[in-house]
Amino acid sequence: MASPLPSPTDPPVTVAEAGAVTVLVCSSCRRTGDGPETPRPGTRLADALGAEACPGVSVRRVACLGNCTRGLSAAIYREGCWTYVFGGLDEGSSGDLREGARLFAGASDGFMPWRGRPEALKRGLIARVPPIDLLKDLP
Ligand code: FES
Repeated sequence: MASPLPSPTDPPVTVAEAGAVTVLVCSSCRRTGDGPETPRPGTRLADALGAEACPGVSVRRVACLGNCTRGLSAAIYREGCWTYVFGGLDEGSSGDLREGARLFAGASDGFMPWRGRPEALKRGLIARVPPIDLLKDLP
C-alpha cells in the first residue's frame, strides 16, 4: 500500500507557477471571553495580512477551518502542492504567514521549506494535506 507521505523515491510533485500561493485566514476565530460585539481577532489578522501582502500571494478570508480550539487558524495553499494548516496564531502572526507564503511560492519541490520557516509555522503546524493529484495515484 502506498504511503500518503512523500518519500525520496516519489515522483516530483507538479508545481504550479511560482507565486500562485493563497493564504486562507479564518476570520471567525475569537478568543475565549470575547463578546459578540468584539471585533474578531481572526478578522484583524486577515486584514493585517491583506494590507501587507507580497506580490504573488493572495489572501482570502474563510469562515472556519475546523481548528477552532487551537487559536487563530490559517492555511497556505498552492495549486499542485501540499496545503498547510496552522493554528496557535495570534493577531501579530501576519509577518510569519507572509514569510511562509513567500518561502512556499519559491519552493521548487511543492513543499513549504522547513529551513527558514518562522517558528510559529513550525510549532503551529496542524496538518498538511496532499495535492488532489497525489490522491488519484493511491490504491
Ligand atoms: S472559527 Fe476559526 S477555525 Fe473555526
